[in-house]
Amino acid sequence: MKGYFLALEGPDGSGKSTIAKLLQRELEEKYKFQIVLTREPGGTKIGEDIREILLSTANMEMGNRTEALLYAASRAQHVEEKILPLVESGQFVISDRYIFSSLAYQGFSRKLGIDEVMDINIFATNGFYPDRIIFFDLDYNLGLERKFAQKEGDRLEIAGDDFHKNVYEGYKEAIKKYPNKVKKVDASKPVEEVFKSCLEIIKEDLNL
Ligand code: TYD
Repeated sequence: MKGYFLALEGPDGSGKSTIAKLLQRELEEKYKFQIVLTREPGGTKIGEDIREILLSTANMEMGNRTEALLYAASRAQHVEEKILPLVESGQFVISDRYIFSSLAYQGFSRKLGIDEVMDINIFATNGFYPDRIIFFDLDYNLGLERKFAQKEGDRLEIAGDDFHKNVYEGYKEAIKKYPNKVKKVDASKPVEEVFKSCLEIIKEDLNL
């Protein structure tokens, strides 16, 4: 019995976590699935510890390679301890971010190379890949505006306009290189519409 692993991807403030919760509710209430919602960096005790190191504004001296490896380390633990066992036992897992975040942020925006970062992530996850990746397509300015309206920025969020502009471009490049399993939704639309588009994608995947 194999479950379903869905990764939500997109720039900061594109609405992934809001939509993840709405999808969980709909799929549990209407379709009687049990959904495990998780996130990166994080998702496990070790992953959440790594998340603190990554996002702390006390760690401004962190090197780009260190950053890429820490994201990959958090992901390795996430897959081994949580996602893989769940999916193998037939469960439905939604992760707020996965490998494409590293391709866009570290590979492209930090200029480590999309393919190089893909390589360390294949090692980290032992090649475990989502059944579906939904990309929340949103102009970077709108995303950051939404974010800062909610709270103060973390180490990545305060990295500057150019960094985030590059993240968006990085997603586009990464999707061009690795289009397998990726579908896009227009995340500038109202929440209800974005939610419906995501639900349609899932229903089609699962023949619901
Ligand atoms: P996220 O949890 O989405 O932020 P928040 O909880 O503030 O909405 O992600 C934290 C930051 O980490 C975000 O700026 C994106 C970045 N990130 C990477 O740079 N690479 C990665 O591989 C991942 C998973 C996240």
